[in-house]
Amino acid sequence: MSIGAGYVLSREISRDAPHIGEIGQGKVARKALPAPQADLPIGEPAEQDATGHPDGHEPAVLLATKLHVPHISDRLVTRSALVNALEQGVSGKLTLLSAPAGWGKTTLLAQWLAGRDRVAWLGLDRADNDPARFWSYVIAALHHSEPALSARALDLLEMGADMCKVVLPTLLNEVDLLDDAIVLILDDYHLVTNRAVHDQMAFMIERMPTNLRLVLASRSDPALPLARLRAGADLRELRTNEH
Ligand SMILES: Nc1ncnc2c1ncn2[C@@H]1O[C@H](COP(=O)(O)OP(=O)(O)OP(=O)(O)O)[C@@H](O)[C@H]1O
Ligand SMILES: [Mg+2]
Repeated sequence: MSIGAGYVLSREISRDAPHIGEIGQGKVARKALPAPQADLPIGEPAEQDATGHPDGHEPAVLLATKLHVPHISDRLVTRSALVNALEQGVSGKLTLLSAPAGWGKTTLLAQWLAGRDRVAWLGLDRADNDPARFWSYVIAALHHSEPALSARALDLLEMGADMCKVVLPTLLNEVDLLDDAIVLILDDYHLVTNRAVHDQMAFMIERMPTNLRLVLASRSDPALPLARLRAGADLRELRTNEH
């Protein structure tokens, strides 16, 4: 499937990738950039035109705040058993943290990640059902965590390259070349309902290099091939009955 992207990285995300677009340093970005107030609204579905571009053909700015591990108080109760389970789970490909609203998923993840290096965090919202937007954010999150990653995958995404044939293989090849492991956390994955995004995620999970680990926090089981991953011992599940 061919998609067009039209997303640009904000100054903070692109700080170590000048070729992405040095927006905040007085230099001209590669694309015509909208004014900062043209950021996509958070929490609302993006209007899409026939090409899948949210908001017509205007490029949108990615919000750096979606890439930050949420700040939590250090006075919260530490759920040590669950923190340990997350640490062990991340030795497998995919860890699924599935629990209802308000259970403490985001808090638990933030507690686990405190002090950990090479964490790529992405807090999803409903607007991320647009595949171009979703993958722009995933690539930005990985880049934010590991500046050594080249921006080639994002370039290809912007050019409208095929996701499963070009963009994701390029991204995974780049991750594979890294010396260190990266944990990619997608919080609120239940907000993803677009079948195309799930299919692309399944494609990525199946082909992830061993130095990339994925953690999904969701209020419900995602439409991913969980049975297959379970059978292959690639899935670690943390659910509400584990306290
Ligand atoms: N270990 C803890 N000790 C004390 N309070 C906690 C703890 N974990 C979570 N909470 C509180 O519970 C509330 C909900 O937590 P959190 O946002 O992490 O839940 P969630 O499962 O991520 O919810 P949602 O599905 O809506 O994203 C927050 O106010 C948080 O401060
Ligand atoms: Mg949460």
